[in-house]
Amino acid sequence: MTVGIKAALAGDLAATCRPFPEARTLPAAVFTAPEVLATEQAGLFGQTWLCVGREADIPAAGDFFTREIAGDSVIVLRGADHQVRAFFNVCRHRGSRLIDQPSGQGLNRILCPYHAWSYRLDGSVAQIPGSGDRESLGLVPVNLATRASFIFVNLHTPPAPLDDLPDLARFRLPELRCGWRHTYEVQANWKLICENYSECYHCPGAHPQLARLSDLISRSSRPMETGQGFNGGPMQLKDGIETMSLSGKRSVPVIPGLSADDHRYVYYYVIYPNLLLSPHPDYVLTHTAWPLAPDRTRVVCELLFTQEALARPGFDPTDMADFWDLTNRQDWALCERAQLGAGSRGYRPGPYQSAEDCVHTFDRWYAERLAALL
Ligand code: FES
Ligand SMILES: [Fe+2]
Repeated sequence: MTVGIKAALAGDLAATCRPFPEARTLPAAVFTAPEVLATEQAGLFGQTWLCVGREADIPAAGDFFTREIAGDSVIVLRGADHQVRAFFNVCRHRGSRLIDQPSGQGLNRILCPYHAWSYRLDGSVAQIPGSGDRESLGLVPVNLATRASFIFVNLHTPPAPLDDLPDLARFRLPELRCGWRHTYEVQANWKLICENYSECYHCPGAHPQLARLSDLISRSSRPMETGQGFNGGPMQLKDGIETMSLSGKRSVPVIPGLSADDHRYVYYYVIYPNLLLSPHPDYVLTHTAWPLAPDRTRVVCELLFTQEALARPGFDPTDMADFWDLTNRQDWALCERAQLGAGSRGYRPGPYQSAEDCVHTFDRWYAERLAALL
């Protein structure tokens, strides 16, 4: 990044960090410049805790998945001792990529395709063909932690402490299982997706189906919740509406133990940088956003249900999945429009509106971090 770009960015990021009434939205370069993405990959995605999945994604010994993170590849697996571990997907001999598949089961050794070194699931060397050497170093571990059964990894050693998630124990997250998953590729910067998720100012025009279900102004009736690593807030369901679904009705029971109050609200949290977590009375919606390019993001969306709901004869997530698929696509179209504008010579950072306090909180978190990396 040139000195000129850094200086201009620093001034614009300072404007985003001002108190809410005077703050300005993020500058165009953070949505468009390859140098900014490279800085984010090195200093943000490469150094912070990132949600890569859930423990329930790899329930049995030998289950695994791989994730592309900040230009790297990471293997997350469950070992023979049932421990979940993460390793760089790199052979200790001459550096070959080890596993190509995005996920799989039944792994009992990791076999390098190049010269057939093999590794146990705890990362230790199992066999080196043609050598009696048993002392060679094992796979390089990646820092891993779990919170509410979400698996977080941090590529940087030593890692910073993992910030707390919002207090959502009542939603029984560790007990929930995925009942629907869809992966999208959005032609927009990852932060536009987080910003869009953080406000419902756009909802009356963009989401007629959502506007029928949810009281769009109720978010201001309860304060935003913020923590070091997250922000978010509730939106109230309209009278007679039971959950977010095309019909507005629940097709699975509520999550056991929730209060009558929780039956009337849907919560939307951004867990920085890239996990979007939304508890509903009867299921939990998650998104994770992974930058592919300044103007391209992969978004994985899941609906999590109680195991009782999933086991019911005729379990069918369609009413909820179709609603969120429709809403997602409406949102992606808006994010893509914002991306087009960010690429224009006519783009100027704008003011935040009162319903965009969570956007400002996210942007300020980001701007402070990027400024520290310049
Ligand atoms: S690079 Fe893996 S065994 Fe040689
Ligand atoms: Fe939206």
